[in-house]
Amino acid sequence: MRVLVVGGTEFVSLHVVRALQREGHEVTVLNRGRRPERVPAGVRAIVADRTQHTALARALAGQGFDAVYDVAYAPTTGEDVAALLDALGPGLRHAVFVSTGRVYDHSLPLPLGEETPRSLYWGEYAKHKIEGEDALLERHRRRGLPITIVRPTHVYGPLNTRNNETFFFDRILRGRPVLVPGAGGWLRQFGHVEDLADAMTAMLGEPRAAGQAYNVTGEEVITQVGFVELVAEVVGRPVTLVSFDPLFLPRVPPGPVFGQNLVYDCHAVYATAKLRAELGLRPRYTLGAGLAQTWEWYRKEGLDRRPVDFATEDALLALIRS
Ligand SMILES: NC(=O)c1ccc[n+]([C@@H]2O[C@H](COP(=O)([O-])OP(=O)(O)OC[C@H]3O[C@@H](n4cnc5c(N)ncnc54)[C@H](OP(=O)(O)O)[C@@H]3O)[C@@H](O)[C@H]2O)c1
Repeated sequence: MRVLVVGGTEFVSLHVVRALQREGHEVTVLNRGRRPERVPAGVRAIVADRTQHTALARALAGQGFDAVYDVAYAPTTGEDVAALLDALGPGLRHAVFVSTGRVYDHSLPLPLGEETPRSLYWGEYAKHKIEGEDALLERHRRRGLPITIVRPTHVYGPLNTRNNETFFFDRILRGRPVLVPGAGGWLRQFGHVEDLADAMTAMLGEPRAAGQAYNVTGEEVITQVGFVELVAEVVGRPVTLVSFDPLFLPRVPPGPVFGQNLVYDCHAVYATAKLRAELGLRPRYTLGAGLAQTWEWYRKEGLDRRPVDFATEDALLALIRS
């Protein structure tokens, strides 16, 4: 198929491009052209900002794509999603939208399944993603466009732009303590980026996936502390955990203290049965195997030698000890 991927040069979207290429699809990426060297060989690039709707329509006019993967978050509103679909015209045979597990109301009982009510629990990010989902669903209902919504959570793996597993690699490798918010007992669920990209590719043109939303993430659930301990096991070094009260955070210089977005105090646990039951898709990676593969990538890229700023953590440690 002739497939357009919005994004294509950083993390999730680049893995999607690679997975689509492996399956023999003709792939074009659309982005603002900030990292042209990252566009894989054999992939065509269209340079446009998705939030500039007139220019976007001009760039996509007459291109005749069969399918689109709407991945880049710009931050992308419902209007941006609708403008993209309009610009692609009536020939489209499938639209896949990357939403998030954060569309669910996280105050409701676990696990959060595809039928769990959506809410603005996660604020503006949830609002944008819900609007984006609704723009697709509206086209599915009114015009019969086959659409699929993908809801990942805590995506990890090579090329990750989020400071999560690499955050802990940086510290454990250097023998630095890891600061843990409170008891570190909130549950998290991580999904390997290649499993996500493979699942998204397998959905392409799949009639059973039309009009559906799927949670796409790993099948293991782990506490915040459990995640750090697993990273230490992968790195092969001991880790010292130091608990801190998140109320201290406004008193130290801003900066990540526990990964980029792993601090928050609610569980994040999602049902994965629908993807398995309806499409027969399961992740290849266990969390341990995926972290080991990511650790290998991190060292191969020389990230183990990168400079790291510990100012926030040092200030927090001083506060804890005072
Ligand atoms: N990472 C997670 O844990 C996680 C969890 C749940 C959901 N998600 C969702 O997964 C998606 C992918 O996230 P990601 O961080 O991996 O990013 P990504 O897919 O790698 O997206 C970045 C790409 O988007 C392009 N881009 C950015 N702004 C653009 C714009 N205004 N117009 C056109 N292209 C633009 C960038 O290129 P240029 O800079 O050159 O434009 C780059 O190619 C997002 O929708 C995110 O909300 C991620």
